[in-house]
Amino acid sequence: MKIHVTINGVPTDVKVAPNEKLLDMLRRMGYYGVKFGCGRGECGVCTVILDGQAVMACLTFAAQAHNKSVITVEGIGQPGNLHLIQEAILDHGAAQCGYCTPGIVCSAKALLDENPHPTEVQVREALKGNLCRCTGYQKYVEAILDAAEKLRETSGRLE
Ligand code: FES
Ligand code: FES
Repeated sequence: MKIHVTINGVPTDVKVAPNEKLLDMLRRMGYYGVKFGCGRGECGVCTVILDGQAVMACLTFAAQAHNKSVITVEGIGQPGNLHLIQEAILDHGAAQCGYCTPGIVCSAKALLDENPHPTEVQVREALKGNLCRCTGYQKYVEAILDAAEKLRETSGRLE
């Protein structure tokens, strides 16, 4: 079957198998920022944004993205032009091995797009599906709160 999906702002038609997961479709297309971890909804490293909501791509059929918008970490910032969330993660030294980071960036962006004034509790709630084995989360939480503040100061740079 063929689906029509907008990936990181680019509309495209993709042939998918009826049982293909969004994770496999995206990686097959070269979006390697969408990581494979557990494959069963437990680690969050495959998190992407589907029509504004953070979803686990390993639990989402590719067909569910038909006529929708998908944002992966590749669509959030570029080397040399990082998103403020990514800059804050760097500034706070929040990432260690980095394997969880693309999913955390997607969860954070979905949160801040919907709620520019999150509390610490709301940030922790948004990250509850993203396992990080290295950091203990504190620096990620601080980075996302910092990014929220900077995004409010420079609104218009949220894309
Ligand atoms: S690979 Fe999707 S939640 Fe672990
Ligand atoms: S930085 Fe290593 S898993 Fe999060």
